[in-house]
Amino acid sequence: MVSILHNQSLKSFNTFGLDVSARYLVEVHSLDELKGLVKSEEYLSGQHLFLGGGSNVLFTQDVKGLVVRNLLKGIAVVNQSADDVYVKVASGEVWHEFVLNCIANGWAGVENLSLIPGSVGAGPMQNIGAYGVELKDVFYELEALDLESLEVKVFSKEDCKFGYRESVFKHELKGKYFITSVTFNLQQHATLNTSYGAIQQQLNLKGIAAPSIKDVSDAVIAIRSTKLPNPNVLGNAGSFFKNPEVESTLFSELKAAHPDIVGYPLESGNVKLAAGWLIEQCGWKGKIVGNCGSHKDQALVLVNYGGATGAEVYALALSIKKSVFEKFGVEINPEVNVI
Ligand code: EPU
Repeated sequence: MVSILHNQSLKSFNTFGLDVSARYLVEVHSLDELKGLVKSEEYLSGQHLFLGGGSNVLFTQDVKGLVVRNLLKGIAVVNQSADDVYVKVASGEVWHEFVLNCIANGWAGVENLSLIPGSVGAGPMQNIGAYGVELKDVFYELEALDLESLEVKVFSKEDCKFGYRESVFKHELKGKYFITSVTFNLQQHATLNTSYGAIQQQLNLKGIAAPSIKDVSDAVIAIRSTKLPNPNVLGNAGSFFKNPEVESTLFSELKAAHPDIVGYPLESGNVKLAAGWLIEQCGWKGKIVGNCGSHKDQALVLVNYGGATGAEVYALALSIKKSVFEKFGVEINPEVNVI
């Protein structure tokens, strides 16, 4: 049986570095431990929260129940052919370590997703994405424990209902399943995706004409490192807000009033706006409010300069949301889970 600790700080388990406490804290290393835990008094006594890398969460208060740290580990090839390789990864693996493992093995598909903080299990929850690739593009299936029946269910790509930073696990099935593993469909021969402007620029800068997956990964790491603050140095959870989608008619009106507005047309006909641009135009970029602020190099990232509370960061987020709405009539919503 796992050992459950009482009244523990979560400061080192969330990348915002917020010093909240959990009434109970436990680590799980296996499916059996997890099944045992779900029957425990501490689990049943109230609120429970599953934590991967803690890189997409804003704690605005102490957790009155149980926090479960996912330490399920293991990476295994389950099937392969001349072109494909299927890799099953335990959900507690660190995402970037998995990416590096793929690159070392020559498995292509996740190189654009290098250096994203967090765990493998958190990936499908919000369909992580960067530099023109989303997790759904390399997803095959996942296994998750039904927390009521204690049966393991297999979810196909369709079952997961992936969208932009969305999946069924953030909506209908929220809190009902614990993802235990994710199986990826990777490629033995890379089809590189360098169309995202900054990647090609970075490769040109290095004089690389025929890039390998390692070159693309290194380019992504270099870009991320210049634009995004390292959570080990400055507390943050990556993009705080999602990029909002607007109808093309509204986009045309906005474009007429703000010719520099940044928007990406979507297949649906709608346009996705760069929230970072909207926030910057409202004067928030680099602004410090108390112990937190909007980052100087990427306005979409809110940072804890030290000693901030989650409530303080959330109040800042609401002020930003309000001013974007007042200036542009566009609603921006958090990508981060606010607890
Ligand atoms: N921009 C500004 N001002 C800013 C920030 C951005 O004008 O302060 C403009 C940029 O100049 C650019 C556009 O907004 O024209 C988009 O910026 P960027 O390429 O940095 O990407 P993003 O849309 O802000 C998204 C993801 C990131 C991901 C990058 C790269 C979301 C919410 N965020 O950011 O993901 O790394 O694209 O693909 O979709 C995350 O989810 O935590 C995350 C970091």
